[in-house]
Amino acid sequence: MESKITPDKRLFALDGRVAVVTGALGLLGRQHCVALAGAGAQVVVADLDPERCQALASRLPGRALGVEMDVSDRQSVMEAVDTVLGEFGQVDVLINNAAVNDRFEAPDIAGEPSRFEHYPLSMWKLSLAVNVTGVFLCSQAFGTPMASRGKGSIVNIASTYGMVGPDQSIYRPPAGDQCYFKSPAYATSKGAVIAFTRYLAAYWGDSGVRVNCLTPGGVRNGQEPFFVEKYAARTPLGRMASPEDYRGAIIFLASDASSYMTGANLVVDGGWTAW
Ligand SMILES: NC(=O)c1ccc[n+]([C@@H]2O[C@H](COP(=O)([O-])OP(=O)(O)OC[C@H]3O[C@@H](n4cnc5c(N)ncnc54)[C@H](O)[C@@H]3O)[C@@H](O)[C@H]2O)c1
Repeated sequence: MESKITPDKRLFALDGRVAVVTGALGLLGRQHCVALAGAGAQVVVADLDPERCQALASRLPGRALGVEMDVSDRQSVMEAVDTVLGEFGQVDVLINNAAVNDRFEAPDIAGEPSRFEHYPLSMWKLSLAVNVTGVFLCSQAFGTPMASRGKGSIVNIASTYGMVGPDQSIYRPPAGDQCYFKSPAYATSKGAVIAFTRYLAAYWGDSGVRVNCLTPGGVRNGQEPFFVEKYAARTPLGRMASPEDYRGAIIFLASDASSYMTGANLVVDGGWTAW
């Protein structure tokens, strides 16, 4: 008789792996930290505010570290790499999540300045510095030791707006003027993240470093009801995402469960880009 088949329960396990999450204090960043820690990883909580990074790290299960890092500043990124390697001796996973996400629910950037004709050059430059240059700098700094070890997974967080143009009509209330336009810098930067992912996957394929994108759709976060309704109506699953909806995809891309996947874009958008 043939022997019993044993399922591989360790496929999604991250025990002993060190996972760095940038922009870890944000709406989705903290969910990525929870997901990775839950799968057994030792998580590095990296963001601009060191005290809040340490506070979140102290609440995660297992060994975790809070680290101050401005992804757009090479010096800051290099210092963070030194700290992480000094503490753990290795990096296995990098989640490039930090971004300027000029959202509808943030009133300071709404209104006329968000209109393309008036969109400020300063916002354009800041978005590209964080969303694109930040991904480049962190991939270079944390990915190089991964390539030297011959092993690692980099996950770049893109957006549906890096794949398809924003439908600006969902930001228009039923009565009254359009109060917000999704920015040109955001869409441009996320398209660049998808292209950079393919570049680096091709470059580091023979070094054992896998590089993939996760493309999330819009997350429910206290937006006005008219917007939530319009967003849901444009989505086959009929709703916006909850912040927890991306946990499975993060663990999949970070772990050996995706071992034959590189240069890919995993789209988790409730079907937004499917029709
Ligand atoms: N929330 C959504 O609906 C949504 C949808 C699609 C894609 N995304 C993407 O998911 C990722 C996370 O989005 P979010 O909604 O959690 O955003 P968020 O604004 O809640 O969090 C972003 C985090 O990045 C940090 N950050 C900003 N500039 C930084 C810098 N220079 N260095 C280091 N950290 C910096 C901020 O402090 C913040 O904690 C982003 O890449 C975003 O583009 C979000």
